[in-house]
Amino acid sequence: MGVVVPAAGVGRRLGAGGAKALVNLAGRPLLAHAVAAMEANRCVAAVVVAGHPDALEAIARLLASEGFAKVTAVVGGGPTRQASVAAGLRALPPELAYVAVHDAARPLVGPGAVDRMLELLLRAGVAGVVPGMPVADTIRRVDAAQRSTGIVDREQLRAMQTPQLFARQALEEAHRLALRDGVEGTDEAALVELAGHPVQVVPGDPENLKVTTPLDLDVAEAILARRR
Ligand code: CTP
Ligand code: MG
Repeated sequence: MGVVVPAAGVGRRLGAGGAKALVNLAGRPLLAHAVAAMEANRCVAAVVVAGHPDALEAIARLLASEGFAKVTAVVGGGPTRQASVAAGLRALPPELAYVAVHDAARPLVGPGAVDRMLELLLRAGVAGVVPGMPVADTIRRVDAAQRSTGIVDREQLRAMQTPQLFARQALEEAHRLALRDGVEGTDEAALVELAGHPVQVVPGDPENLKVTTPLDLDVAEAILARRR
C-alpha cells in the first residue's frame, strides 16, 4: 500500500501566507503530524508527499529531520489538489497495488486508520473505501437571492474525510478520465465514482478534522492537548 499526501496548498482560508503544510500545530508542522500517522500503519510501505514547488526544500528538510522511514519521494504539486494527487501517484513505487490519499491538512487521523480501512477494502469487493461523517446541521438549499428553496434530507448526506483508499488501477484510471474530460473533483471518491467504480463509505472519525481556518487550529490544539 502506498500513500499520497497532497500538501501543496497555500492555506488561503487559514491566512498561512505560505505552505499550509508547514504551519505549526503544537510545535510540529501539520505535514509531520499527517505523515507520522500514515507511517504508523503496518500495511503502508511508501509515502509520497506532493508539496508546493516553492516549499519543496523546506519540506524535504522537515521530513529528513523527522526521520521518517517510509517517505520515498517528495514531488512538486500542481495548481489544484487533484493535480497534486496526480503528481504524487506518478511517483509511487510501481509495485504497490493499493493507494491511500491523505490530506496534509488532516493532522489528527489516528494511527492504524489505514490498516483498518484496507481490511474493509479487501473484504467489500469495491474499488474504494472512504470515510464519511454524518452531517449534524440542518442543510438548506437557497437560490441566487438567498431565498430558501427547501431542506435537504441530511440522513442521506456524509461529509467526506481522508484517508481515502483505492485499488490503484481504479484511481489511476479515474485520474486519466478526469484529465481527458476536464473534470475537477474535490476528492478522489468523486473521480473514481465518475469512472464507474463502486465506492463504499465507512464511518469517519469525529476527531479527524481538516484544518481549514484559524478556529480549526485552536480545536486541533485542544484535541492534541487532551490526548496527551
Ligand atoms: N492541496 C494540494 N495542492 C493544491 C491545493 C491543495 O496538494 N493545489 C492540498 C492541501 O495542501 C491540503 C489538501 O489538499 O492538504 C486539502 O486542501 P485545503 O484544505 O483546501 O488546503 P489549501 O488549499 O491549502 O487551503 P485553502 O483552500 O484555504 O487555500
Ligand atoms: Mg484549497
